[in-house]
Amino acid sequence: MSALTLSIDDEKIATLTFNLEGEKVNKLSRAVVEEAEHLLEELTQRHDLRGLVFISGKEDNFIAGADVNEFLKVTSAAQATELSRYGQRVLQKIEDLKFPVVAAIHGACLGGGMELALACHYRISTDDKKTLLGQPEVQLGLLPGAGGTQRLPRVAGLKNAIEIATSGRNYRPRQALKKGLVHEVVPSPLLLGVAKARAREMADGKLKPRPYKPRGIVAWLLEGNFIGQWLLFGRAQDVIRKKTHGHYPAPLRALQAIETGVQRGSKAGFQNESEGFGELAITEVSRQLIQLFFATTDIKKDSGLDDAAVQPREISKVGILGAGFMGAGIAAVSSSAGMTVRLRDVSDEACVKGLSACTRVFEDRFKRRSISKLELQELKDRVTATTEFTGFATCDLVVEAVFEDIELKHRIIREVEDHLPEECIFGSNTSSLSIATLAEASRRPEQFIGLHFFSPVHKMPLLEIIATPKTSKQTIATSVAYGKKIGKFPIVVNDGVGFYTSRILGPYMNEASFVLEEGAPIEALDKALVDYGFPVGPVTLLDEVGIDIAAKVGKILLHEFGERLRPPAGMERLMADKRLGRKNRRGFYRYVEDRHKRVVRKGVDNTVYDLLPAGRRHKPIDPADVQQRLSLAMLNECALCLEEGILRSPRDGDIGAVMGLGFPPFRGGPFRAMDSMGLDNVLRNLESLQQRFGERFRPAPLIVKMAKGNKKFYSS
Ligand code: NAI
Repeated sequence: MSALTLSIDDEKIATLTFNLEGEKVNKLSRAVVEEAEHLLEELTQRHDLRGLVFISGKEDNFIAGADVNEFLKVTSAAQATELSRYGQRVLQKIEDLKFPVVAAIHGACLGGGMELALACHYRISTDDKKTLLGQPEVQLGLLPGAGGTQRLPRVAGLKNAIEIATSGRNYRPRQALKKGLVHEVVPSPLLLGVAKARAREMADGKLKPRPYKPRGIVAWLLEGNFIGQWLLFGRAQDVIRKKTHGHYPAPLRALQAIETGVQRGSKAGFQNESEGFGELAITEVSRQLIQLFFATTDIKKDSGLDDAAVQPREISKVGILGAGFMGAGIAAVSSSAGMTVRLRDVSDEACVKGLSACTRVFEDRFKRRSISKLELQELKDRVTATTEFTGFATCDLVVEAVFEDIELKHRIIREVEDHLPEECIFGSNTSSLSIATLAEASRRPEQFIGLHFFSPVHKMPLLEIIATPKTSKQTIATSVAYGKKIGKFPIVVNDGVGFYTSRILGPYMNEASFVLEEGAPIEALDKALVDYGFPVGPVTLLDEVGIDIAAKVGKILLHEFGERLRPPAGMERLMADKRLGRKNRRGFYRYVEDRHKRVVRKGVDNTVYDLLPAGRRHKPIDPADVQQRLSLAMLNECALCLEEGILRSPRDGDIGAVMGLGFPPFRGGPFRAMDSMGLDNVLRNLESLQQRFGERFRPAPLIVKMAKGNKKFYSS
């Protein structure tokens, strides 16, 4: 089946339209690239054409990237290198065409799609919200393998090229223009017309797209000479090493390909790029990141139910109870998704504070050029606040984010329900209370659900949706649809203490407390887990979350799960010493205010050791042992959650842990990590920890069963 259609207008400007039949988005598979190759060969022979516009036939997508499935089928580095060389050869044919080629971009133009656009002589994008450009390959543990690392420095300059290729960031049209990824941004209806006009102008010699030149003295000093470039590469290496902690080889490898091209010429650069692609494609890191990517695309299609007949209801107005830290965040993401938001708090001051917090999120997006001034105003206008319940009568969804106090929550549920329309859904953002218990105060438990957001709400990608046995299917489906609309990855879990995320964090944090009690130096403990791949160590996390909150959740978990989750006794003394963590600037670490009035963390507060049983007599730790203790405590709990039906699938467990808790993505998530280790090894290690430390490491029955049956959580 043909994916590419060629048409030629009276002025001899050809339009090549890419429309992959039966797919929502255009992807570059081997078959498509072969078709393009033949077409390009034909075009090379034609002398009548004056120009070519490359455009997509999809409504909202240019090219989403290469077909990632094909990367997983690759079995050797040599095979992957060849795949990359082939891509390079075909795209080179575009660049070599004798007439001007213009990429007319609307919708996602990512990965291989961006590389194709880079091979064109001129790039125009629409200013639409759906238009996104970038080279996200490193996020899949790969590098742009079809010439991207070589063409980027030419079109965007060295500094931008390094950022684009090694960060994997996506850029909105205005940002892409600034970075040099496109020459021009136009409103969508004008795209094809302007693209053809530019092709004509280039053919007539009236428009000559100039190659990138560093602008300004600093850019010139850095990019225009050998020493400056050397400095840029050195600095980029340092930044990448600091960020990746040696776990993600792709960004450094992409940097190497750029450096080779810049210093040793294009031929060496292209070769280095394809070899790098080959090396990376067969790494375990890349495989895990690709599986995680598949899991996320899968979640985007999941309604949260096995019953496909249930249709979600439209949510266009959201009421939020509590304009505090979380409430304001939920308001901001809801407004950003086009919904009207009504905030309710108890005082004018609290309302103003909530509105200002929302505005800060919007203004930040404006400053980063991801929204226009007009959009900024619209986002602000959609959020209003009240100390009454006015405006709640037209809400489709109400989310409560008041203090974590069951009596208060019960009271507010009763109060608000009188003001809501019959079909309105009620979501609670509690982080630890049972949803079923909260729902006892509701007259319509079938419309009651947990909507567990993570902080900061506008940045964290997960939404944990908690259903009770009474929650209706439609409430679940509508909540999932709402989650997707606000740009989150929703996982639906069943109600139970700590749901999924807080529950698996419990034994992990508990184990950290035991390690501390044994006399571990705080920084060494944190470093061990950062080296394992978590974004921050457990002690830092404790300070961030709040030692009081952790203690409260710890008690709830202990009450529910018994001895297995008993924290070490010494921890009580921290509370008695009024150590709450960052929020009262008194925790395991020291906090000071800088001249911008920001609270900055300093080193460990050594006086905290006086409250721990081992005092200041530290004992060095074995990082590998500590990593194993903490990670297995978490993995074992994950298996229990699956076994008890808290989780619907290992996939949800992996997404939940990675996106909610920062579980190392390169390990694929807890369930993928257990599969890689082998369930027999997981079991053996748990048994040996059980011998050393007792019941808290008793292996989950599911792990025992799977190890004996030589099973895995995933079949592929
Ligand atoms: P917060 O203290 O920043 O905000 C709570 C807000 O509720 C305050 O503005 C308060 O004035 C308001 N409030 C109190 N009574 C009210 C009433 N009757 N009507 C309307 N508003 C009322 O607390 P935060 O951090 O936003 O937490 C809110 C909820 O979200 C809690 O249940 C918490 O457990 C949960 N949560 C918090 C997370 C976090 O990282 N802070 C993460 C996930 C959930």
